[in-house]
Amino acid sequence: MNEELEKRIKKVIAKKFGEDLVGWFEQEMRELPWRESRDPYRVWVSEIMLQQTRVDTVIPYYNRFMEQFPSVEALAYAPEEDVLKVWEGLGYYSRARNLQSAVREVHESYQGIVPDNLKEISSLKGVGPYTAGAILSIAYGKPEPAVDGNVMRVMSRILSIDDDIAKPASRKKFEAAVRAIIYEENPSYFNQALMELGAIVCTPTSPSCFLCPVQSHCTAFAEGTQHELPVKSKKKAAKTVELLTVIAENNKGKVLISRRPEQGLLANMWEFPSFERTPGLNAGQQMTDYLQSDHEVEAILTEEKWMTQDHIFTHLVWKMQVGRLNVTNEPVLTEQMKWVDQAEIEKVAMPVSHRKIANAWKESTEKGTEK
Ligand code: ADE
Repeated sequence: MNEELEKRIKKVIAKKFGEDLVGWFEQEMRELPWRESRDPYRVWVSEIMLQQTRVDTVIPYYNRFMEQFPSVEALAYAPEEDVLKVWEGLGYYSRARNLQSAVREVHESYQGIVPDNLKEISSLKGVGPYTAGAILSIAYGKPEPAVDGNVMRVMSRILSIDDDIAKPASRKKFEAAVRAIIYEENPSYFNQALMELGAIVCTPTSPSCFLCPVQSHCTAFAEGTQHELPVKSKKKAAKTVELLTVIAENNKGKVLISRRPEQGLLANMWEFPSFERTPGLNAGQQMTDYLQSDHEVEAILTEEKWMTQDHIFTHLVWKMQVGRLNVTNEPVLTEQMKWVDQAEIEKVAMPVSHRKIANAWKESTEKGTEK
């Protein structure tokens, strides 16, 4: 850490930054379901859900999750399918799978008690420095930093740190800064207050500096540079992949779905069979060929472009063309494929894009039967 930064940190400590920040938090904190208790399991689940996801989006998911899996034990014994189903729509599904495997380890190796020290908690799957710090401070009151993007934004302004927050290496500097200024009397509130400030006052594009409880501590405000901080380099443009997706129906009103591989993107989730399109070749032909050669499913194309659907991931965009086909044989299916009717398709965990297709399919068949 450079001398200039150390000087600013000393000044902030001397002016009782922590007291001002925590005092504000005590008055202004939002009532959020995960703030109702300090049960480390509840804090853990909330912090995993809140990664890359807004508070308003998380609340209903968190409540349903807690209803279904109220304890370490309940989650440890749950089938993975049920966990993915509750997570459906929240995205970044590896968070759910990692959470469950870590919770199983806590159940088996730590008598169901979430570890209260950095070494053990950091060894759990999916528990990185942010989550470890958040659980240790919020649930156990330990003076550990919990630095995510919001906290980096706040601290970059308070201390005028211009390291690129998109670079993983920058986090260490912010952690060292938070470790130095953390409010020892209440690390739980201190870290939550930093998150809260980032969420409702020190926002990315138009920070409400005139409402800020720590304005008098803020170097960026003093220098008028709050709009230039944090420094954050742009991500690479997302890659686009063109997919062909098939709705393959039989004459009993059932449709084929397949399960994605155990590893990688959207692991273990169910979807309509999909594959990357070969440019220049006829789409309908590719659909029938794919079903035939990969799955021994004989099918007649009824509609080559029944609908289209996009799915935007962080680094990837799927452009899906959805065709409809009638299956004419009785194929022998692997474990990774099954026939489902309208009620059954509701129960499996699907990526949002496929859920939208499923809803459109259901609607079209309902219309069909009304006639
Ligand atoms: N963002 C990350 N963790 C949070 C928390 N505990 N409360 C509110 N927002 C958050």
